[in-house]
Amino acid sequence: MRNWTWALAITLLIALIAPAIIAQTQQPGKAAAPPPPWAYGFATPPNPGDKPPQGGGGNPPDNVTQKHVDGSTLGFTQQQIANGFSPADWFPNDHPAMPDIVAHGRREAMIIACALCHYPNGKGRPENAGPAGQSYSYIMQTLDDFKNGNRKSADPRKANTNRMAGFAKAMTDDEMKAAAQYFSSMKWTPWVKVVETDMVPKTKINAGLYLALEGNEKEPIGQRIIEVPVNSEATDELKDPHSGFIAYVPTGSIQKGEALVTTGGNGRTIQCGACHGADLQGLGPVPGIAGRSPSYLARQLYDMQNGFRTGVWTELMKPVVAKLTPDDMVAILAYVSSRPVGSSSGSSGSPSAAAGGADPSLIASGKSRFTTYGCIDCHGMNGEGTDQAPDLIGTRLDGPGIAKFLNKPSADAKAKGMPDIPPTSPDLAPVVAYVLSLKHAQ
Ligand code: HEC
Ligand code: HEC
Ligand code: HEC
Repeated sequence: MRNWTWALAITLLIALIAPAIIAQTQQPGKAAAPPPPWAYGFATPPNPGDKPPQGGGGNPPDNVTQKHVDGSTLGFTQQQIANGFSPADWFPNDHPAMPDIVAHGRREAMIIACALCHYPNGKGRPENAGPAGQSYSYIMQTLDDFKNGNRKSADPRKANTNRMAGFAKAMTDDEMKAAAQYFSSMKWTPWVKVVETDMVPKTKINAGLYLALEGNEKEPIGQRIIEVPVNSEATDELKDPHSGFIAYVPTGSIQKGEALVTTGGNGRTIQCGACHGADLQGLGPVPGIAGRSPSYLARQLYDMQNGFRTGVWTELMKPVVAKLTPDDMVAILAYVSSRPVGSSSGSSGSPSAAAGGADPSLIASGKSRFTTYGCIDCHGMNGEGTDQAPDLIGTRLDGPGIAKFLNKPSADAKAKGMPDIPPTSPDLAPVVAYVLSLKHAQ
């Protein structure tokens, strides 16, 4: 459908559900729960009169030592990595050519390069957002909402939301179009691994990002989602756009969330699939939510529920969020972010096709799945092996052999907890291609 048709469809949908919105709007005077601190990147809820923390100061980052990340032949200094007008691009072959506004921003207007925060591949981090794979119309609409003051943060300390709005105000129409075109041209791929648990690693917070502390100290998760980089250094210091996240969620929350998401929970909310698509990967202009950062998504639900996000299309979400409790949000997002993502197009799932010289993008997407499936936990960051499992570099299996092993791991592997990947899964071909590439690299 063309853009204007979708705009019309959205307007009609809003008209249809308007009575439901009026009936379900929160009763005035009912004290709302405070913003969940874990979603906004703080340790405690805000106090009245709180302001954004004063940043800046400190020494400029080092500009001598060349740093490296796994899988890239390039080297950058800490200063290059943090350069707001030309941040490091570790994997230039990984994404289409970036428009100028994405790669460099625009200094005269104080617009920072989108790639600094959202990464060149648009996958972003919990404290910002992942615009990759959203529709062109949605990105244009939401940039307009930022520009018009319709996207603010419920937590007055969250300075980067204000900065984002400032960039949207300063952008020209052409810059918005170029950025929307760019981010919508890429597919969303696995980025967050969701793990149910009662105990989480103790964490510290750096500029809105939770980081697991070294050592193995744990604390009860409570009714929170704790999302941390798989590798603190790779994310926090190096901004490695191939190094994803782990989201710890309370035991049992995924199943509770599934009930709310798929049935609406007897009028508590509305089935998400009706608008976001049955697989929650987005439908027409409606954004994808599957497999995305639960912290980011939680902020949006809370901001929409409490009148801080009030864009044109937000009307459709009002009856969805009106009655949700903080615990409902935890459960819903545990489920939503654990949903698989991947190309419903393309990969026909024929692993033997990947046996020969597979294309680099298939291998790259296999590498990121290798992280999100947790293969790294046993086989090591780069398949080099650990005391849990053998290295995969020396495997004697060929493409079909690897695929078969993944469909049905050996009893030993199964007993140790190796996940299986069914023959129908779109993840199979990329993972096989990646494992094979380790072998061929020898
Ligand atoms: C300083 C970091 C920073 C930079 C630079 C930045 N953004 Fe953002 N962006 C954010 C934050 C933070 C959010 C999420 C705000 C929130 O959670 O309330 C965001 C959200 C977004 C979203 C919304 C995604 C969604 O799913 O709704 C889009 C689109 C976006 N940014 C586009 C851009 C573009 C285009 C640029 C470059 C001109 C850019 N951003 C530069 C921090 C940044
Ligand atoms: C009636 C249609 C409809 C239903 C049902 C619906 N959504 Fe939405 N959702 C939307 C639209 C449209 C937007 C874009 C809102 C905007 O632009 O402000 C959206 C946006 C969102 C966002 C923000 C995404 C982003 O990238 O910022 C989240 C999170 C979300 N929905 C979650 C859910 C969940 C969870 C459910 C089910 C419990 C649900 N939605 C049900 C239509 C719907
Ligand atoms: C919980 C630990 C664990 C995880 C997680 C795990 N594996 Fe394994 N894997 C093993 C063990 C143990 C073996 C050896 C089993 C044997 O020798 O029978 C193995 C064997 C294999 C083999 C066969 C190697 C050979 O040469 O025989 C492949 C291929 C493999 N794993 C791939 C993967 C992939 C891909 C993932 C992620 C989707 C993964 N594994 C996740 C434990 C794990």
